[in-house]
Amino acid sequence: MKKIKLLFTVCLGVGVLLIIVALICRYSTNSDLSGTTDQQVANILKSNDCLACHSFTAEDPFYAIGPAKKMVQKDIKSGQRFIDLIPVVENLEAGKAVAEIDLIKIKQSILNQSMPQTKYQILHWSSHLNGKELELLSQWVDENRKTVYPNHLAATQFINEPIKPIRESIPVNATKAELGFDLFHDTRLSANNTISCATCHGLTIGGVDGLKTSKGIHDQIGGINAPTVYNAALNMAQFWDGRSKDLQAQAGGPPLDMLEMGSNWEEITSKLKEDKTMMKRFLELYAAEGITENSITDAIAEFEKTLLTPNAKFDKYLKGDLAAITPEEIEGYELFKSNNCASCHGGENMGGISYDYIGVAQDYFADRGTELHAKDMGRIGVSSLEVDKHKFKTPSLRNIALTAPYFHDGTINTLPEAVKLMHKYQMGKEMNEETVNKITLFLETLTGENQYMTKK
Ligand code: HEC
Ligand code: HEC
Ligand code: HEC
Repeated sequence: MKKIKLLFTVCLGVGVLLIIVALICRYSTNSDLSGTTDQQVANILKSNDCLACHSFTAEDPFYAIGPAKKMVQKDIKSGQRFIDLIPVVENLEAGKAVAEIDLIKIKQSILNQSMPQTKYQILHWSSHLNGKELELLSQWVDENRKTVYPNHLAATQFINEPIKPIRESIPVNATKAELGFDLFHDTRLSANNTISCATCHGLTIGGVDGLKTSKGIHDQIGGINAPTVYNAALNMAQFWDGRSKDLQAQAGGPPLDMLEMGSNWEEITSKLKEDKTMMKRFLELYAAEGITENSITDAIAEFEKTLLTPNAKFDKYLKGDLAAITPEEIEGYELFKSNNCASCHGGENMGGISYDYIGVAQDYFADRGTELHAKDMGRIGVSSLEVDKHKFKTPSLRNIALTAPYFHDGTINTLPEAVKLMHKYQMGKEMNEETVNKITLFLETLTGENQYMTKK
């Protein structure tokens, strides 16, 4: 009897000791958790080896020889390409705001409990993020998103979701927008009066042309797929490589592009000036300048601000109408998040707020097998930085069911195929058919409403 009591006491003692050790491990930290929250977060990212894989100065760790080298090099390369944490740390230390998409990515890595990767932690015990650090990071993300990128439209329980409901409208000058609508459909913006903006951005077919790459003046075939004009007003910049800073700057491009409309402003403005009603409309709105490149592109940009598409089934759900989407579609949304899709296609427009690689984890262009085209180079054409080669403005996924074919090269014909390839090239993994189908069902709930979508 005594022996059993002793054994019981010893067991109890060992048990309590183990729990204490576990608690100490969970909450002990090698990061300096003093100073402001921003400083603490910067310290966590710096002292847990996050920058070893998430910076472009990342060098091979010392043990990286033999087979280990290959394994680690691949992780460093995908890690760098998935998110660069240097600007995050720099902004934190300078007291500046961190980009919305980086906050979304950091939150997802916490939810997945995937960082640092297990095989890395086995070699680097100190890189483990403990409970206290995870909690601090998570609270910091939520607080920052709330104050810097507020989400006014979502129901309370969805306030921290990576996707926000799209706003209903952007305030516009209605008369300018009407003029812009007419100019958008005016073929006089092209050299031989055959092509208008709407030729390649059909408003009743999703704001696109449905072609692999666009067909411009004299049936010339362009080198890149036409993105939609719907919700383009919400993008941080325009074009696949972001070379235009806003809608007005963008609208000045196609009329002069030899493959698209092949004209010039002198020709365009003199044609429009011959039109008495057009002249009158311009003078009412732009008394001082009349018909110029500036007034034409200003009116078009004003019109394009009316091309938002609220009221998608998924937005109704985020706003609190829980029956707006089916349980299967909700499952698709959960898979969309857990497979890291929302980490790039996040925010209000589900994209359009970052430049990301096509081929984070695997070489898309090598597999495509066709020759590299100047248009495949992406953001490097604007920034001249080697790290921007093959980076594109991550496309919005709103109305994605309407805008096939997909990718900048228009080579992908169906949505399930795009989903599958995204997972393959961005995460380096194969996705099973069922997951692909569920995510596709979710993507189909993103079709919104706009007065021009159905009207001829
Ligand atoms: C050994 C290399 C390595 C280390 C160390 C590492 N990561 Fe990563 N990280 C990756 C890779 C590879 C990915 C790509 C996605 C994946 O594999 O899950 C990634 C993805 C991420 C993402 C994007 C995840 C998403 O879903 O959007 C974040 C955020 C991130 N890491 C943060 C961190 C933080 C914070 C640390 C330090 C605690 C860290 N990483 C340490 C390799 C690493
Ligand atoms: C011949 C077809 C064609 C015509 C005509 C055309 N576009 Fe485009 N549009 C495209 C293509 C292709 C792209 C992508 C080009 C790139 O990124 O390099 C594009 C990109 C855009 C974008 C950027 C969207 C985004 O998400 O980055 C907007 C906005 C746009 N066009 C509006 C217009 C307007 C306004 C006009 C008329 C002034 C016009 N387009 C005329 C084919 C055309
Ligand atoms: C690392 C960032 C990143 C991740 C993660 C990511 N995407 Fe993408 N996505 C992109 C970029 C960049 C493109 C443009 C690629 C191109 O055109 O060559 C794109 C394109 C797409 C397109 C085609 C859009 C169009 O208009 O042509 C779809 C659909 C898509 N992604 C869905 C997904 C899904 C589903 C997932 C998750 C399995 C996912 N993406 C994960 C960055 C990402």
